Amino acid sequence: MKNIAVFASGEGTNFDVIAEACEQGVISAKVVLMVCDKPAAKVVEKAAQRGIDSFVFSPKDYSSKADYEREIVRLLDEKNVDLVCLAGYMRIVSDVLLSSYEGKMINIHPSLLPAFKGAHAVEQAIAYGVKVFGITIHWVDASLDGGKIIAQKAFYYDGNDAEEVHRIGQKIEHTMYVEVIDKLLKNNYS
Ligand code: GAR
Repeated sequence: MKNIAVFASGEGTNFDVIAEACEQGVISAKVVLMVCDKPAAKVVEKAAQRGIDSFVFSPKDYSSKADYEREIVRLLDEKNVDLVCLAGYMRIVSDVLLSSYEGKMINIHPSLLPAFKGAHAVEQAIAYGVKVFGITIHWVDASLDGGKIIAQKAFYYDGNDAEEVHRIGQKIEHTMYVEVIDKLLKNNYS
């Protein structure tokens, strides 16, 4: 059985879907840790409800990013984590995490990368006037929403309702993230 950690900063719908897929045996792994940098985020409650250990912190309580990332690496090592899944974790990771977990850390992003990186991808895509939106899952490196692409799915939408695009994208994210995690764990990260 493999061990997964999920990092999130907000709602945690992807966290929930991944945890459920593990509980149901759809993914042959266990979510052993949820990491969150926003104590008030909904994902914190979701992890507690599922009885999943979490590390919830405020970056301002640490003197540097390296400081809290060292603590995260300690926990990931302690729990023998095989795969780290960023699911709406709104921070760029530094060398501290990457030196131990690069090649074992993936991210999901609501655009067809390399277009529209960052925290407002859908809103930027609508402002640009694109008609084909999408979701990308990629390996994590030190850049913002960079790293080699693992999977992408596109959908056509002609309009300017960002919430609608988020709704369509979220459904795709949920099935896609579970499929990709399962495949990576089964195929030894390829
Ligand atoms: C997801 O849509 C994810 O793609 C996005 O945050 C959302 C988190 O939703 N991530 C990024 O924008 C990364 N740059 P969730 O908390 O409900 O899983």
